[in-house]
Amino acid sequence: MTVAEFRARKGQGAPLVCVTAYDAPFARLAERAGVDAILVGDSVGRAVLGFENELPVRVSDITHHAAAVTRAVTEPLVIADLPFMAYAAVDDALRNAAVLMQAGGAAAVKLEGGTAAADATAALAARGVPVMAHVGLTPQTAHLHGGYRVQGVGLSAAQAVVDAARAQAAAGAFAVVLELLPAELARAITQHLEIPTIGIGAGPHCDGQIQVLHDLLGFSQPTLRHTRVFGDAASLSESALAAYASDVRARRFPAPEQSFKGKRGVRERLEFE
Ligand code: KIV
Repeated sequence: MTVAEFRARKGQGAPLVCVTAYDAPFARLAERAGVDAILVGDSVGRAVLGFENELPVRVSDITHHAAAVTRAVTEPLVIADLPFMAYAAVDDALRNAAVLMQAGGAAAVKLEGGTAAADATAALAARGVPVMAHVGLTPQTAHLHGGYRVQGVGLSAAQAVVDAARAQAAAGAFAVVLELLPAELARAITQHLEIPTIGIGAGPHCDGQIQVLHDLLGFSQPTLRHTRVFGDAASLSESALAAYASDVRARRFPAPEQSFKGKRGVRERLEFE
């Protein structure tokens, strides 16, 4: 999936399927499941690195995880997140996007914000860096929004989200993530914009959907309203690890099938003094 193919899917029937991934095994599974795009998101902070939120995540973290993902897959479009403050100035945006693409292997970058980040989007787009924008609830500024809550509920708040999405499209973004918005607002933005909208907690009318992998697989507690556990890989993993611990303690593992034979008589002739 190229950026051009992704963009051309606007309004073309089946929604685009996007998911986050941060390592090679899960990226391979996502590819085999046929996803259109993988986002190496700054959600890696919460999902994998044990942080409470996205703010401590650095460009070097995203680069490290993006490189693992891009080594593993060939089909899906891989997009890497520009983390907190990595695009506050246009020069930073250019330098950090280059790192994510050159060392991380990403085909595109994502950044959060509307008008305030439009100069970064415009500068990147002008230099051939494909940018996915992200408006509505923007986790990097969640403190400003009073936490992870639905955005754009009243008229002025809804208009602000529309303006943010339009500013990013005008600046050259090839797609925009709409996070935690009323479904009707997301539908209106989707109908108005010429670029694909990718929803997360923004209802069913977007051009595509994105979810955090660990939410889909049951690793996140509690389960958030806008997500669904499609398979409880967390419980499966815990049972497998408990079975391993129990078999080691009972000397059932390793069994003869997992053990190796040496030459007869060698053990008896070993010297330990
Ligand atoms: O970092 C991330 O995973 C994201 C998605 C939730 C869109 O930004």
